[in-house]
Amino acid sequence: MNKKNILITGGAGFIGSHVVRLFVSKYPSYNIINLDKLTYAGNLENLRDIENATNYTFVKGCITDELFIHELFTNKSITHVIHLAAESHVDRSISDPLIFIKTNLLGTANLLHAARDTWKEATEDRIFYHVSTDEVYGSLAMDRELFTEKTPYDPRSPYSASKAGSDHLVRAWGHTYHMPVVISNCSNNYGPNQFPEKLIPLFIHNIVQKKPLPVYGKGENVRDWLHVEDHARAIDQVFHRGRHGETYNIGGLNEWKNIDLIRLLCDTVDKKLHRPVGSSQDLITFVKDRAGHDLRYAIDASKIEKELGWSPEYTFETGLEATVDWYLQNQDWLDRVTSGAYQEYYDKMYTQ
Ligand code: NAD
Ligand code: DAU
Repeated sequence: MNKKNILITGGAGFIGSHVVRLFVSKYPSYNIINLDKLTYAGNLENLRDIENATNYTFVKGCITDELFIHELFTNKSITHVIHLAAESHVDRSISDPLIFIKTNLLGTANLLHAARDTWKEATEDRIFYHVSTDEVYGSLAMDRELFTEKTPYDPRSPYSASKAGSDHLVRAWGHTYHMPVVISNCSNNYGPNQFPEKLIPLFIHNIVQKKPLPVYGKGENVRDWLHVEDHARAIDQVFHRGRHGETYNIGGLNEWKNIDLIRLLCDTVDKKLHRPVGSSQDLITFVKDRAGHDLRYAIDASKIEKELGWSPEYTFETGLEATVDWYLQNQDWLDRVTSGAYQEYYDKMYTQ
């Protein structure tokens, strides 16, 4: 079997860094090439523990740069792609949509184009894997219905529309050019190293600092939470055993109304910091709702469970507790992210 040279895009981001770490440590015979533009969301400090591994290379670059991406595929003899690089925050997509279209749509098309050009007709031991989101399916009512792989696409934010479009591009390349492709659509992730613009790290940070907790609308919206390490393990299974041309939904059957989750977070942090339990709930501040705020996401993950034998290892109780512990024990990580100091790491480590 040929050597696997796996391009992981967005590997300095939240989920990407967990995927890179898993692949670098679990598969020493694979070459892992982490391509990341290091936008505000990219943080190489997330990968300090594996940055000197002999099977790991970091490359700074943009997925929309046509010539650069073509040369990267050629020079590194890329055989596989796990594509996570994206603009990922819904609120930013509402205030600044065009960068989502450029990165998520043009960037994905550019990677597909380079893969096809360099792989030619080769389909043996190749894969183009797109890591996508459950938001492509739109919004569910408050009943027992779940998103399955057959749920029609109905994206409602610029972010989810750009991810839906990139899923369609991946399927089009698979269908038209017989490229071996696979897609997974996952629910909300939480865990270490998540940029503190997303609900859980932002609110832990604010609770610690005794700052207001801005709850959108009435906090009635529902999200289905999965620990990021469980997502990384699912990606490992889909990458190795997923059927070409297929889609796999990933989620933990773990729905929480925002307001209930926020109250639980307040109480968990209160306990850890020896504050009177319930006192941080006073920080809850109801603010204007997110424009077009999707009411409910919930994933039916029975296909990946039955076909690939994956299921989450964390319960929400163990996962949330471990996550709160991580942020409390890594306040320096949060400080360096909020001050912007993390952005100096690339220059310090890679350009001198
Ligand atoms: P993130 O914002 O933490 O990380 C994105 C990474 O992509 C960053 O390192 C950033 O520097 C990089 N990037 C952005 N634009 C780039 C470009 N033009 N060229 C190269 N690199 C670029 O995102 P995340 O939360 O880790 O999400 C990763 C992927 O998983 C995304 O595709 C997202 O849509 C998907 N996803 C996320 C979740 C979630 O809950 N966070 C759930 C399901 C799917
Ligand atoms: O479902 C998967 C998606 O989950 C991923 O594709 C996205 O990349 C990821 O960002 C996430 O999207 P959400 O919009 O669901 O995540 P966010 O953490 O931004 O918000 C979670 C919920 O909390 C949502 O209903 C909005 C609400 N919220 C969020 C923030 C940041 C608040 O009430 N207040 C806040 O300040």
